[in-house]
Amino acid sequence: MTSYKELGLVNTKELFKKAVSGGYALPAYNFNNMEQMQAIIQACVETKSPVILQVSSGARKYANQNILKNMARGAVEYAHELGYDIPIVLHLDHGSSFELCKDCIETGFSSVMIDGSHLSYDENVALTKKVCDFAHSQKDYVTVEGELGVLAGVEDDVSAEHSHYTQPAEVIDFVGKTKVDSLAISIGTSHGRAKFKPEQCTRDANGILIPPPLRFDILEEVEKKIPGFPIVLHGSSSVPIEYVHMIEKYGGKLTDSVGIPEEQLRKAAKSAVCKINIDSDGRLAMTALIRKILIEKPEEFDPRNILGPARDELKKLYSHKNKNVLGSAGQA
Ligand code: G3H
Ligand code: 13P
Ligand code: ZN
Repeated sequence: MTSYKELGLVNTKELFKKAVSGGYALPAYNFNNMEQMQAIIQACVETKSPVILQVSSGARKYANQNILKNMARGAVEYAHELGYDIPIVLHLDHGSSFELCKDCIETGFSSVMIDGSHLSYDENVALTKKVCDFAHSQKDYVTVEGELGVLAGVEDDVSAEHSHYTQPAEVIDFVGKTKVDSLAISIGTSHGRAKFKPEQCTRDANGILIPPPLRFDILEEVEKKIPGFPIVLHGSSSVPIEYVHMIEKYGGKLTDSVGIPEEQLRKAAKSAVCKINIDSDGRLAMTALIRKILIEKPEEFDPRNILGPARDELKKLYSHKNKNVLGSAGQA
C-alpha cells in the first residue's frame, strides 16, 4: 500500500477549486513511456503549470503499473531538479471497475476516474458511489471523476458507437448521490483523431474539415444546475493539421482527421471546465517527428536520435497548450 503523498503527488481538490475560480483548465496529458513523461514535465515546469499525469488501462498494460508509479515519483523529483515544484496529480483514466480503481488507489494514484457512462443511470450511480466511498475514506483523500453522457469513439475497455449528450436534468441527482469530486460530460467531443464524420463537417477553401461546434448550450445548462462544480472534457485533442500533413508526407495515412478547434477549448476552459484531456495530439506529434527522421535520415539507428526530437516536439506542443489553450501557464 502506497499513499500518493509518499510519492510527492497531490489530489485534484484544491487545484480544481482554483481552476474554476481562475477561469482556466488543468492539462490532463496521457503518458505511457519515459519520453512522454519527460516532455510533459519539462513543458509544465517551464510554463509553471499544474499537471495531471493520466494513465489508461492500456498504459498500465503497456508499461507496467509499478513502473508507471515510479515514473510519477520520478516526475516529481524531475520537476524539482528542473527548478520548480509544480503540483502533479497521478490519475487513472477511464477506470472500468471498482477493483481497478481500488488497485490504483492502493498503489499511489491521487485521483481516479470511474467510467460508468456505458451503464444504466442507476448502475452508474451505484458504481461511482462505491468508488467514491472507498477513495474518500483513505487516510489521504483520493479524488474521483465520474461521467454522465457517452462520448462517441472508443473509451479504452468501454466503447460507444454514438454520442449521447449529457442530460443536464440528471447532474444534481448524480453529484448528490455519488459525491464525485468532478464530472466528465458529453457535449460533442470524442476520442481519437477523427472526431466527426466528414458528413457532419463543412470544408474550408483548402478542403480542410471544419467540425460542428461543441454544445455550449448543454455546458451552460449543466453549470446552472451545479454552479462552480468541476467539469471535465474528454476527447479534447485539436488534431493539428500540420502534424497530420507531416505524417502523410512521410508515408502515413490518416484520412478524414478532425479535432476540436483551440478557440472552443479556450472558451470551455474559461467556464467551469477545469480539466481537459489530451492524448491523441501527443501521439500525432510523436509519430510525425519519428516518421520525418526515419525518412530523412535512413542511416539513423540510435533510438535516442529518433525519440529525442519527438520528445522536443511534444514539449513544444504541451507548452503551447498550457499557454494558449488551457490558460494553466503561470498557475502553479
Ligand atoms: O481515452 C482514451 C485515451 O486516449 C487512452 O487511450 O486506451 O489507447 O491508452 P488508450
Ligand atoms: P483525445 O483522443 O481527444 O486526445 O482524448 C483523450 C482523452 O479523453 C483521454 O481520456
Ligand atoms: Zn477520455
